[in-house]
Formats: sequence, structure tokens, C-alpha cells
Amino acid sequence: MARSFTEITDLTRNEVFAVFDVCAKMKKGEIAPKPLAGKSAACIFTKESLRTRVSFEVGIRELGGNSLYITDKEIKLGKRESIHDVARVLSRYVGLIIIRTLAHGNVTGLARHATIPVVNGLTDLVHPCQVMGDYFTILEHLKRDRYKIAFLGDGNNVANSWLNLASLIPIDLRIGTSKQTPPDEAILGRAMENSDSSILITGDPKEAVKDADVIYTDVWASMGQKDKAEEKAKLLGKFQVNTALLAGASSDCLVMHCLPAERGREITDEVMDGPHSVVFDEAENRLHIQKAIMVFLLGQ
Ligand code: CP
Ligand code: NVA
Repeated sequence: MARSFTEITDLTRNEVFAVFDVCAKMKKGEIAPKPLAGKSAACIFTKESLRTRVSFEVGIRELGGNSLYITDKEIKLGKRESIHDVARVLSRYVGLIIIRTLAHGNVTGLARHATIPVVNGLTDLVHPCQVMGDYFTILEHLKRDRYKIAFLGDGNNVANSWLNLASLIPIDLRIGTSKQTPPDEAILGRAMENSDSSILITGDPKEAVKDADVIYTDVWASMGQKDKAEEKAKLLGKFQVNTALLAGASSDCLVMHCLPAERGREITDEVMDGPHSVVFDEAENRLHIQKAIMVFLLGQ
């Protein structure tokens, strides 16, 4: 079985930093590996995407490969044939699989049965490439021994990936959310086991952002849950990232959002377009970090 990246905890702490190192070197143009030369990568997307799709397709080309965009219309993942068979067939054609889908089990199932690396481009449970790129963005912008990161809003796939990162590297992570929208219990439990990190789950947005170096938010209703948008808005309204909330954070804090944003809901225009915002640097770094993850998995 090849090494895959189904969630951040598939890597060790040292490997996370090795990926950041390769990412920085590639971004500066110091190295330009081509591990996909002469190969193709299958990009399976059963959900919509701007950043993930485009950054992976561009990244695959920059690593020398060719990308194939495949939606569920063609393959009907797990319905037309088993995930097991899809994994075995694709392994005969391509050098790498990127997948964005609803159920996390689809990704782990593919990774288990493929003989090539599988990279998770988002599931309902986690969004690992996003948070790897986000932490890299923080390292570029702010120098601290240890970061105080406040995630505000739904305890969703992005919040879960922050917890996964905290289970590997020391972070002071606060998640401000309602009792009805907590992060995944098992992922939270695993993060709590890392005594080098501190984890706080709070219903008080001010407590979450107190002296924070980073204020992070995401849509309140993720893909596949848009029918719950109004219900979530009622639960999460007080966690909106706005100018008043920023007043409690560090004066040089970064504001982050994985995008797409629902401006005026989880984040105001004023903050998203304001001086603390690094949201478009985050978007750019998806390209660099994913190239580094692919280089790592392909063994170059
Ligand atoms: N942040 C992110 O993954 O964006 P897309 O849904 O557009 O890929
Ligand atoms: N939590 C969001 C992230 C989008 C990049 C979603 O899953 O829709």
C-alpha cells in the first residue's frame, strides 16, 4: 500500500515540518521536482470546488503530470461498482488519486485498496490540505513560538482538521461554537491527548479570541448541509467574525477563512477586506502545499 494523505494525522510531526520545508523551497523556486512526469492523476470530485480543483490541476501540471477531472456523474462512486474495484482499476492507469467526496470512508476505502497515493481534497469529516496550507500561511506571516488560534463557527471538517494538527504540533486552539455544533468527538479526544497543545471548546466567542494570534472562520453550513443554513445561522450568529470581535485579539492578529465565504454571515466585508485578512494568501498557498504533499507522497 502506498502512503496516502487521508487526514493530517497520516503524517508524523516531523513529516508535517518536512512538507512545510519542501513547500517553502518550491514556492521560492529553489526546487522544481517533477515526480508526475509522464504520469496522470485522477481528480475525483463529487462536490463542487473552485480552489481545490484548480490548485490541484495546476499543481499536477507543475509537477510534470496530466490531470483528469472526474465527477460522480461518470463513476457513481460506490454505486456503479465498489470503491475497492475503483481503487484497483485507477491504480493501473494513474500515479495518484485526489478525491473530494461526502463520506470520509470513501477516501479511506480508496486509500486501503489503491496501490498509489490517495489525497483527501475534503470530506464531511476533514479538510486536511486546507489546514496544512493555512498553518504554512501563518508561519509566513507571524513569528511566534506557539500560536493561539481561535476557530469560530461550526464544528465542521475544517475545525476537525485544526484539531488533527493540534494533536501533532503544539497549538493553543480555541474553538468557539454552540453546544449543538461541536467538532467530531473522536478527533477532539485524540487532540486532547497531546499534552503539548491546549484545546478549549467554548460557547463564548470573546473567550475564544482573547489575545488570539489567528481568528479563523468558515461557512456555518457546509456543502451537503445547505438545507440547515437558517438553523445554523440561529445557533452560530454570535460567532460572526466582525470588527468588534477583533478588538479582543492580538493587535497583529491574522484573520483567516478557507473560502468560499458567505459575506455578512460568518464574516463581515469590513474584516474580510481589512488589514488583518490573509484569506487570499491562504487560497494561493493551497497550490504550494498540495504540490509539497504530492511530492512527499510520491517520494521525491
Ligand atoms: N477552500 C476550498 O476548499 O475551496 P473550494 O471548495 O472552492 O475547493
Ligand atoms: N466546511 C466547508 C469548507 C469548504 C471549503 C464545506 O465543507 O463546505
